[in-house]
Amino acid sequence: VLIPAAGSGSRFLKPEGGPRNKVLAPLAGEPALRHTVRAFHALPTVATVRIIAHPEDRAALDEAFADRSAWTKLGPWIVGGAERQDSVRLGLEALEADGGEKPDWVLVHDGARPLCSPALIHRVLTALQSHSAVVPVVPVFDTVRKAGPQATSGGVMDRTQLRLTQTPQGFHTPILVQAHRRAQADGAQATDDGHLIERMGLALHLVAGERRNIKVTIAGDLALAEWIAAHPEWGTEALLP
Ligand code: CTP
Ligand code: MG
Repeated sequence: VLIPAAGSGSRFLKPEGGPRNKVLAPLAGEPALRHTVRAFHALPTVATVRIIAHPEDRAALDEAFADRSAWTKLGPWIVGGAERQDSVRLGLEALEADGGEKPDWVLVHDGARPLCSPALIHRVLTALQSHSAVVPVVPVFDTVRKAGPQATSGGVMDRTQLRLTQTPQGFHTPILVQAHRRAQADGAQATDDGHLIERMGLALHLVAGERRNIKVTIAGDLALAEWIAAHPEWGTEALLP
């Protein structure tokens, strides 16, 4: 499992004296990233978890995982890059450079999604038995409208055809490696890994995401995450793709 956590949280208004990176903001009594890692670390089906981090967060990360010896599946931090896509690519390159057995499957999960349920991870893993690229999505509940110029509406989209994308996204490793190599060669940019698969003309298999699995993006999300963390069953229902 690769956990990109090397961002700077520019949309997240930092609380006074808080950490540089939102993924280290406190959630239910510990840095949010500990929840993210634990969700995977706790599963017998997961072999290794690697955090992709910003060099400036090294000290804070070491502090957040001061009990590091207890995290037996957590490998060394990998240094991330300027964009999320760069961070994931560097993560894959680090796996390639590692000696030893290469993983057949890789999951990529946002460090900023600390509340992902084990059921969702299992859904992705189960689908990987018969598909090489798996992406969790949720339906859109609001009416979606394009923005035109000067506060005009650019029209309404058919929301029944739209889905919001989550992580963990799961891949047969060689396919994701190839997708990142090709994107790098083409100078193509994407905000998720699935998009890089699609631009090679390959199919993505969609599975149900869940409401619980929010991405902490702006400061208010942390209060919501706090509430969700205190309600372990809330939002775990599979929302059909
Ligand atoms: N990420 C990363 N490397 C980057 C940028 C983002 O590993 N160069 C990670 C973030 O740390 C986060 C995940 O990708 O866990 C999803 O990105 P996002 O929510 O956009 O986080 P940030 O980029 O940190 O936030 P913002 O876009 O508001 O600056
Ligand atoms: Mg970002």
